[in-house]
Amino acid sequence: MKVIIGSDHAGFSLKTQVKALLESMGHTVEDAGCPSEDSVDYPVYGKAVASGVASGEFAKGILICGSGLGMSMVANRFTGVRAALCNDLYSAVLSRRHNDANLLVMGGRLIGSDLAEEIVRTWLTTEFDGGRHEGRIAQLDEL
Ligand code: RB5
Repeated sequence: MKVIIGSDHAGFSLKTQVKALLESMGHTVEDAGCPSEDSVDYPVYGKAVASGVASGEFAKGILICGSGLGMSMVANRFTGVRAALCNDLYSAVLSRRHNDANLLVMGGRLIGSDLAEEIVRTWLTTEFDGGRHEGRIAQLDEL
């Protein structure tokens, strides 16, 4: 799968780890930055990842900032993007099964690295349930 990943400085360390995980899982990973732990503005990197998913170039996106909140706000401004802030496993499951989330957001300052890896694995391998959820998903892009 083609996955684009990005973070701000607060998510840089976890982004580096998640990128390695994705590559070990066999995914093709595009790193949209940021490049270090030097302070940056999260909208810049949120936009880079969300636009990559919105355009269809990437099947999935992953964004990490300190809380996950800022990146979620950025990503959900892009039509076609369904960004889900998941700092726990059940949110990761439901964001895929019910919301067909195509962009995972995590808070690098809120969760440990082992949990983050499990969230990523779970999120990437859980399928959309479809059915009654399909019409609801379709309504999102009409808002
Ligand atoms: C950076 O200090 C922090 O504000 C950012 O990473 C994010 O949590 C914003 O929502």
